[in-house]
Amino acid sequence: MVKKNQTLGEFIIENQEAFKYSSGELSRLINSIRLAAKVVNHEVNKAGLVDITGAVGETNVQGEEQQKLDVYANEKFIQTLTNREIVCGIASEEEDDFITICGQKENHQNKYVVLIDPLDGSSNIDVNVSVGTIFSVYRRKTKIGTPVTLEDFLQPGNAQVAAGYIVYGTSTMLVYTTGHGVNGFTLNPAIGTYYLSHPNMKFPEKGNIYSINEGNYLQFPQGVKDYLKYCQAEEGDRPYTSRYIGSLVSDIHRNILKGGIYIYPSTSKNPKGKLRLLYECNPMAYLVEQAGGKASDGYQRIMDIKPSSLHERVPFFAGTTSMVEDAEKFMEKYK
Ligand code: AHG
Ligand code: MN
Ligand code: MN
Repeated sequence: MVKKNQTLGEFIIENQEAFKYSSGELSRLINSIRLAAKVVNHEVNKAGLVDITGAVGETNVQGEEQQKLDVYANEKFIQTLTNREIVCGIASEEEDDFITICGQKENHQNKYVVLIDPLDGSSNIDVNVSVGTIFSVYRRKTKIGTPVTLEDFLQPGNAQVAAGYIVYGTSTMLVYTTGHGVNGFTLNPAIGTYYLSHPNMKFPEKGNIYSINEGNYLQFPQGVKDYLKYCQAEEGDRPYTSRYIGSLVSDIHRNILKGGIYIYPSTSKNPKGKLRLLYECNPMAYLVEQAGGKASDGYQRIMDIKPSSLHERVPFFAGTTSMVEDAEKFMEKYK
């Protein structure tokens, strides 16, 4: 049952039984993400005051420049999940390889692995624009009590048991699903508690926002170019309006609440798109579907893709079901 103004802590306890493998472990996991998110939030809020904006001077495994807050958020999430001995393995966008946790101590019984984009939209930090964190949880495939292997992380999105994001925006929200709809909790910074502010989040039936980095227009596949012209045409409920923050979390969050489509397609420069299947697309696809929307790579369901490597990328179309279906029709023409 959804009660407004419940705290996240109360909500987790109350809904624990609805989760089919419930043993309290997943609840403890969400709890530690909630804690790490508070710590990161505190730091993000100080950006501009202390020396935490800007680049570290290093690039991550994907050749992208790491921001100081990328590194900080990565450390905090990994530390919290490791210290509390809740998961058996972690994979992060900021780490070359996955991290094995079980095997170090007598905590071999942990069943879950977490995949995380610790700071999403990091190029927006320096200019005081919303950033986020994205997480995805799976049950391990290999035997409990043994060290995790790559197989535990390379599972299709449809095997996720939980996923969520934190948006560090004008207010901080934690939004997550365990497969029973999507619920959003807003942090009251004065007392450090998250309250259920957005119970059972659903896309409105229709949307009129399209979100894409149109600066790459000339590099888009013809299907995307044609769909954009369709969005801009003066016909029926169109033209749609264009909104693009450049933080996936914030763009998707807005589109769930208002109705819209987010597209990061393949481009001639990046034939597989930019977004990462395991850390960004799968968790967002799970949330989008649980909110009544649709997520695909333009042709097939994101969550049915079998991953082949930790950092693989995929084109991403996600949002209001009818809008994603329209975009897919344009893609289909040039298949
Ligand atoms: P990250 O900061 O984790 O690397 O992710 C950035 C992603 C995503 O948040 C955003 O939607 C997209 O990159 C923006 O890319 P462009 O600047 O190419 O539009
Ligand atoms: Mn990201
Ligand atoms: Mn990131």
